Amino acid sequence: MQSYDIYAPWYDIQNDMEDVEFYLEMLSTYGGPALDAGCGTGRLLLAFAREGFECAGFDTSQEMLRIARSKIEAEQPDVSERIEVSYGDMREFQLGRKFRTALFG
Ligand SMILES: C[S@@+](CC[C@H](N)C(=O)[O-])C[C@H]1O[C@@H](n2cnc3c(N)ncnc32)[C@H](O)[C@@H]1O
Repeated sequence: MQSYDIYAPWYDIQNDMEDVEFYLEMLSTYGGPALDAGCGTGRLLLAFAREGFECAGFDTSQEMLRIARSKIEAEQPDVSERIEVSYGDMREFQLGRKFRTALFG
């Protein structure tokens, strides 16, 4: 079990932060697609996709990914279709695609 598995249910409550605006500004400057390596509950991926950006994320916490996937499934198809989520470790990963903007953790 990864330490974020335990923290996962509370992550979104404790991280409802204004940093989303900063990342959206970065995306407006550098463009998509965007990668969130260590995407957690998909907090940023959802914000990116809702603004029309293609994006992908991966994480080593299965519980964070479970929450991310359930949130993505609850979105409108035009939003959820822009998001790709998978299990992966940022120390060694291959997604087979390129990104204009990437953030880690
Ligand atoms: C602080 S959270 C950030 C989540 C998300 N990027 C956000 O801003 O809401 C850090 C995330 O990195 C993940 N993580 C930690 N080590 C990792 C690794 N080696 N590879 C991939 N993800 C990792 C954790 O499971 C956790 O979900």
